Amino acid sequence: MKLWGGRFTKPTDQLVEEFTASIHFDKKLAEEDIKGSLAHVKMLGACGIIPQKDADAIRKGLLSILADYKAGKIEFSVENEDVHMNIEKLLIERIGPVGGKLHTGRSRNDQVALDMHLYLRKETKRIIALLADVLDAIVNVAEANKDVIIPGYTHLQRAQPVLFAHHMLAYVGMFMRDAERMQDALKRIDIMPLGAGALAGTTFPIDRTMVAEELGFSRIYDNSMDAVSDRDFILEFLSAASILMMHLSRFCEELVLWSSTEFSFVELDDAYTTGSSIMPQKKNPDVAELIRGKTGRVYGNLFGLLTVLKSLPLAYNKDLQEDKEGMFDTVDTLKGSLALFAGMIRTMQVRRERLQQAVKQDFSNATDLADYLVRKGLPFRQAHEVIGRLVLYCIEHGKFLADLTLEEYRAHSDLFDEDCLQVIDIKQVVDARDVHGGTGSRRVEQALVQAKQSLADL
Ligand code: ARG
Repeated sequence: MKLWGGRFTKPTDQLVEEFTASIHFDKKLAEEDIKGSLAHVKMLGACGIIPQKDADAIRKGLLSILADYKAGKIEFSVENEDVHMNIEKLLIERIGPVGGKLHTGRSRNDQVALDMHLYLRKETKRIIALLADVLDAIVNVAEANKDVIIPGYTHLQRAQPVLFAHHMLAYVGMFMRDAERMQDALKRIDIMPLGAGALAGTTFPIDRTMVAEELGFSRIYDNSMDAVSDRDFILEFLSAASILMMHLSRFCEELVLWSSTEFSFVELDDAYTTGSSIMPQKKNPDVAELIRGKTGRVYGNLFGLLTVLKSLPLAYNKDLQEDKEGMFDTVDTLKGSLALFAGMIRTMQVRRERLQQAVKQDFSNATDLADYLVRKGLPFRQAHEVIGRLVLYCIEHGKFLADLTLEEYRAHSDLFDEDCLQVIDIKQVVDARDVHGGTGSRRVEQALVQAKQSLADL
């Protein structure tokens, strides 16, 4: 017999039962569901809506189900459709008809919304903690390689050299914003829907504030119809998750490039790479690739829910049951990706000698030579032209700027003096960018201190 079976004369079609059930996935909400029910029943007793002794019996029953659930002793069934009805049915089996008083003044519509808020609040906090660990790993690798210079790119062509730490700190900026976005999403996750009933509120004199306080929510929904049909808080989480995955995918892409023979800037640890079933020499950056690839499913989950919600009339509709799997999948994907990413960064080796060589063999100090001529009074546009010709001359003669004699410099402009060679020294090129946000080592040193402070405040 179904909990809602009264007005029906026939059993549910077997396929309908399978099709409409959500227990296969919403069983993940079992603990949240019981916690929500415990708060609800405490309020029902305190407000005199049900006798205190009944509230006590229900509380005991729920606690015994919770203990058995944690011990892995509970089996849910498809006949009972979802986690809410499975647990209520179990309660009635355990403590008798008094268990049927739990659902007084409540609907599954506000109940499921509550469970989702509780679940996402818990998981978002965990994700922020994992993000903090990723940030810590990045700051540490930056610090350990503070003196290392790497080529900086635009269009994936060598542009200007930067400190390796500066490159790392760019990602610190991104992930700090991700953490802020998650914290901001928490503000809307932290609103309590219970008390909305099916859609219109309830005829019982409930105390919603008491339930909110009991469950640690700082606000309650002001409109019952909004409370049961709102899934914005999940969309915000999925949006923040998508941006975060996009950042991870960019970093992973760089690691894939950097660990290739062509770049050889870093070596990923054996523990974070895999081999080939046919090519004995291979060491593949599978973890980085897979995190990059999993970005796709997180975007998909965001678009899936946006599409479910599009044009949905008020208030609850069964469509809303489709909010769960994408959210669960996103939470699991994020947690897995962040944990692995942190480990991959912590164990990665920066190939310092190789990088020392790499930054010498390019023209990424050309801008500095143009700036040199500007300081001698030449308008920048003309200086750009002169250095462009000089680079062309180098290419034609198989040289780099540092290989030229003063005569060769002077042949292109008589503004060149001996000191021009100093400005193209690679360390000087980096340190000369001594502006806020620039790669000069003094600035990067300050940025590292700042990053550690922001991380401690997170
Ligand atoms: N399993 C449902 C869901 O996840 C619970 C709410 C069902 N409410 C209803 N009136 N059918 O959305």
